Amino acid sequence: MRSYQTLVGAAKTFAIDAAELINSSGKRHFAISSKSSSNDMVTEVDQATENYLVERISKKFPNHSIIAEEGANHSGTSEISWVIDPIDGTTNFIYGFPSYSVSIGVRDKDRPIAGAIYNISENSLYWAGAGMGAYKGSSQIRVRTQVPVANSLIGTGFGYTAVRRVAQARFLTQLIGEVRDIRRAGAASLDLCYVAEGRLDGYYESGLWPWDYTAASVIVKEAGGTLLGPKDTEPSGELTVAASNAQLAAFLREKILPYLPFPE
Ligand code: IPD
Repeated sequence: MRSYQTLVGAAKTFAIDAAELINSSGKRHFAISSKSSSNDMVTEVDQATENYLVERISKKFPNHSIIAEEGANHSGTSEISWVIDPIDGTTNFIYGFPSYSVSIGVRDKDRPIAGAIYNISENSLYWAGAGMGAYKGSSQIRVRTQVPVANSLIGTGFGYTAVRRVAQARFLTQLIGEVRDIRRAGAASLDLCYVAEGRLDGYYESGLWPWDYTAASVIVKEAGGTLLGPKDTEPSGELTVAASNAQLAAFLREKILPYLPFPE
């Protein structure tokens, strides 16, 4: 099997260095503007970190493409693309709520092959390469042992428009009675890592972007988790489901599908 050691090593270095840049930003003193709604915020730190990452990646891998949350995209000639979120959980970052990350994924033309996610608030690095296993720092991580749906702790997230959130919350009322409890921590990439390491049994969200889930998909799969999209195992903007086992993942997907698509 092909080894993705070089890409994984680079993704880890870039994530660690970007986290250091974010930590040295003076934290609460930065300009904030909004994107799709007044609740969808971006800071000058997100933008500076993205520019920094794009520069590092294109210097080391000039032929690779880059897709980045804040729009600093670059089109390369190779089949390899870097899919990055300089700060996932920007609202948490602004408030100092401890769940935000740098998320760096790499994919080839078929699938995500490497991922590094730095949990800035905990100073820990999740990483994985296809066929290499999933790790937190130097320890290998695995999903939690199988539990019945009724005993499962499930994470989720909400979009940025009122109409969408209300529809998502309405669906939640249909789910919460069938599972142990629900968590909404505010950074999708970390929620997915929490499934990979057993802090959550499952996670679902409708409305994610590739930079929210590309790096984490490798980590979930390599940790033994099940990843699903609306139709097959490819997560998409319409639906991302991750779970410690296939039964729970199927349950979550079947439960939400009749409610999709949520309004924009
Ligand atoms: C958001 C977070 C959040 C999820 C949203 C994402 P951002 O990313 O991951 O948990 O619910 O769907 O957009 O905007 O903080 O990079």
